[in-house]
Amino acid sequence: MNVFLLCVVCATVLAVTSCGGLADEFPSARSVSGTFKGSWMETRRGRRFQAYRGIKYAWPPVGELRFQPPRLIDSYKGVVYAGEEGPSCPVPAPPPGYYVDEDCLTLNVYTPTNNGSKLLPVIFYIHAGGFYSMSGRSDYAGPHYLLDRDVVLVTINYRLGSLGFLSLGNKLAPGNNGFKDQVAALKWVRRNIAAFGGDPNLVTIAGCSAGGVSVMLHMISPMTKGLFHRAISMSGSPTAKEHSPSHRLDLAHKQARVSDCPADNLTALYHCLKNKPWREIHGSILGFFEFGYDPLTLWRQVVEPDFGQERFLDIEPIKAIREGRMHEVPFIVSQTQDEFFWKANSILYNQTLLDTMNAEWDRVAPISFALPRDETHERLAKLRRAYFGDKDLVNDTSTSDALGKLYSDTITAFPVHRMANLMCKFSKQPVYYYEFAYIGNNSHRVDRVTNKPTHAAHHDDLLYLFTLNYSYPTIDVADTEDSRMVDKMTAMWYNFARYGNPNSCEDTPELSPLHWPTMKCRRESDSKQKQYLRVDEEFSVKQNLKEDRFKVWEELYPIVY
Ligand SMILES: *[C@@H]1O[C@H](CO)[C@@H](O)[C@H](O)[C@H]1NC(C)=O
Ligand SMILES: *[C@@H]1O[C@H](CO)[C@@H](O)[C@H](O)[C@H]1NC(C)=O
Ligand SMILES: *[C@@H]1O[C@H](CO)[C@@H](O)[C@H](O)[C@H]1NC(C)=O
Ligand SMILES: *[C@@H]1O[C@H](CO)[C@@H](O)[C@H](O)[C@H]1NC(C)=O
Ligand SMILES: *[C@@H]1O[C@H](CO)[C@@H](O)[C@H](O)[C@H]1NC(C)=O
Ligand SMILES: *[C@@H]1O[C@H](CO)[C@@H](O)[C@H](O)[C@H]1NC(C)=O
Repeated sequence: MNVFLLCVVCATVLAVTSCGGLADEFPSARSVSGTFKGSWMETRRGRRFQAYRGIKYAWPPVGELRFQPPRLIDSYKGVVYAGEEGPSCPVPAPPPGYYVDEDCLTLNVYTPTNNGSKLLPVIFYIHAGGFYSMSGRSDYAGPHYLLDRDVVLVTINYRLGSLGFLSLGNKLAPGNNGFKDQVAALKWVRRNIAAFGGDPNLVTIAGCSAGGVSVMLHMISPMTKGLFHRAISMSGSPTAKEHSPSHRLDLAHKQARVSDCPADNLTALYHCLKNKPWREIHGSILGFFEFGYDPLTLWRQVVEPDFGQERFLDIEPIKAIREGRMHEVPFIVSQTQDEFFWKANSILYNQTLLDTMNAEWDRVAPISFALPRDETHERLAKLRRAYFGDKDLVNDTSTSDALGKLYSDTITAFPVHRMANLMCKFSKQPVYYYEFAYIGNNSHRVDRVTNKPTHAAHHDDLLYLFTLNYSYPTIDVADTEDSRMVDKMTAMWYNFARYGNPNSCEDTPELSPLHWPTMKCRRESDSKQKQYLRVDEEFSVKQNLKEDRFKVWEELYPIVY
C-alpha cells in the first residue's frame, strides 16, 4: 500500500520534472542585471526552496582594487552559475582545506518562490566575527530555519581585518571598506531582489556582534538612505565609551610588523601591504593581541575625514543619534544574558595572566576591557572596586563571576545599553529590546569538564535563527524546547520583517500570548519603565536591563542621553 502510494508520487514528480525540464532541475531568476541559475535546498521542516549562492556583487577586490572601495557589478555577461558556495573572505586561521579567497565579495539569496506572485519581505543578514573572522557562507549562516517562513534571506561576505578596514587617516586608505562592501550588497539587493521574489521596499537588515555594530552604523551612514526599512542589532553596538577614531594607525602598525612592512612611511606601508599575498596579511592574528587573547575587539568603524572620497561615516554615532541624523526605522536591539562571561576563565586558568592582571591592573585593564589607553590610576581603581571590591583576583567562583560580568559589560552589554537608550530616546520609530537568557542543548561556550552549556553566551540566539553546521547540529522538528525556540525566534523575525512589530499574529500561534511592549523613555515619567523582553523557556517582560551594573560606567564615561 505504502509502496504503491510512493510510486504514484514518484510518477507525478517525474511527470512534472519532465514538463518543467531544466527549469525545475535548476531554479533560475532573471533580474535587470542578469540571469542566475541556482540549486534546490530543503528547510528543517522539509520545504524545498531555491538557493543562489556565491553571486559576486562587486568586482574582485584584488590587485589594484585591494584596499579600494567596492565597485558594484550592475550587469552580468551570460548566465551566472550560483549553484555552489563561494569562498569565505580571508580569515586568520581557517580549518585546513576550507574555501577562502581574497576574491570573496559574494552574497547568497534563499527564496521560497520567485514566481512573480506576491513579493516577500527580505532579511539581509550581516555576519558576526569581530570584523576579522567568520563569513556569510551557509555553514555560518544557514537558511534552513528562516526559510520555513515566507521571507527571502540574503547573507553576505564583506572584507575583513586589514583587507577590509585598513585606515591610515589619509587619502590612500580612509577606512571603512568592509562597511562599504555591505552597502554595495544592499544596493545589489535593491536592484535585483524582486527577481528572486523579494520586496525591495521591505528590507530588514539584521546582524549579530560585528554585524550588530554594522546595522546601527547603516542607520547613520549617508550611503544607505532608502536601502532598508527595519533593523535588528544583536549583541553589538558602536556607541561605546570612547569617540570613534578617525584612523587606525595603531592597527596598521601592528599589521606592518606582522607582515614585515615599513611602518613609519605610510605610503610605503600601503604599497608594501598592497603587494603581499593575502595569506601573509591574514597569517597572524596572534600578532595583534597584547595580553593573552586581548584586546578582543580590534577593527571597527572610523569617522572618515573628508579626502574627497564617498564617506561611509562622517559623524560620531552618538552625536548622529542625538541629533536625529539617522534613517529611523523600527528597531530590535538585544543582548544575551551572559555574553563574554566565558572570557573570565581564559584569565583565571592561566596563572601568568592572573598574576599579571593583579599586579599590573593599570597597564592591563585598558587592553582587556576596551578602555582608553590613557586611563588614570584613580579611575581604573574605581572600576576594579565596583566589580571586585577590595579583593585580589583569585581562581574562585566569585572572581569568575565578577570578571565574567566585567568582560561582558564592557564589550557588549554597556555599549548595547547605550545604543538602546539613545535610540529609545531619540528615534520616533518603535524600539524593541530583548535579553536572550535561554540555555538549550548547545551554546557557544560549554563547561570544560561536563561539556554542557551553563550560560547564555555571545551568539547563542543565533543557534535558533540559523543553522550553524560549521560546529552545531541542526535542531530537528521533534517536539523539544530547542525546537520550540527555533519556531519562536523565527516567528519574531518574520513578524518584524513583515510588520515592523515582532508580536504574535494569527499565523504565528507559537508566539501567543506574546506581548512585547516597545521600550519607552522619551518622557521623564518613562524612565522607570524601560521595558524589555526576557527570552527564556517562558518569555517575560521586565524593566531596566542590568542597569545596576552600569552605574559605574555611566559615572566614568558620562553622556547626556
Ligand atoms: C507562487 O508560489 C507560491 C508559494 O509557493 C504559491 O502559493 C502560489 O500559488 C504560486 N503562484 C503561481 C501563480 O504559481
Ligand atoms: C554544512 O552545509 C554545507 C552547505 O549546505 C555543506 O556543504 C556541508 O557539507 C555541511 N557541513 C557539515 C559539517 O554538515
Ligand atoms: C615614503 O615612501 C614613498 C614610496 O615608497 C617614497 O616615494 C617617499 O619618498 C617616502 N617618503 C619619505 C619621507 O621617506
Ligand atoms: C598563559 O598565558 C601566557 C601569556 O599569554 C602564554 O604564553 C602561556 O602559554 C599561557 N599558558 C597556558 C598554560 O596556556
Ligand atoms: C582554576 O580552577 C579550576 C577549577 O577549579 C582548575 O581546573 C584550574 O586548574 C585552576 N587554574 C589554576 C591556574 O589554578
Ligand atoms: C536536547 O536533546 C535531547 C535529545 O535529542 C532531547 O531529548 C531534549 O529535549 C533536548 N533538550 C532541549 C532543551 O531541547
